[in-house]
Amino acid sequence: MDYSEKVMDHFENPRNQGKIEDADGIGEEGNPTCGDIMKIYIKVSDNIIEDVKFQTFGCGAAVASSSMATELIKGKTLEEAWELSNKAVVEALEGLPPQKVHCSVLAEDAIHKAINDYRIKQGLSPWEEKEGK
Ligand code: FES
Ligand code: FES
Repeated sequence: MDYSEKVMDHFENPRNQGKIEDADGIGEEGNPTCGDIMKIYIKVSDNIIEDVKFQTFGCGAAVASSSMATELIKGKTLEEAWELSNKAVVEALEGLPPQKVHCSVLAEDAIHKAINDYRIKQGLSPWEEKEGK
């Protein structure tokens, strides 16, 4: 299987790996087929994602996707982070092999869950997933 240099780089040197103890929002998403799990922790201040960390128990593509996704949402507003699609993550990684694209979906979904966890804790209504995803 051919991985881009970007994927290899983020797999070998994952950014933002770990856990935020006093996270404002936590999202966990798993893929029942392979049993892989991704957890995203966010720290929010003034609607901005100040800090984000991930823990991923999964394949290399899932680790690289989490690493890239966390980099892409750090410092962004919650609205911008919500708009991050798995496609954008794959593009930033300069592609994933077709059979590995679904691994990047874990990142998008886990981020959405973390944002909604934060919103619910703030007493706000959760945002809804777009149709046709
Ligand atoms: Fe399991 Fe990618 S996360 S194969
Ligand atoms: Fe599990 Fe890819 S096979 S997310």
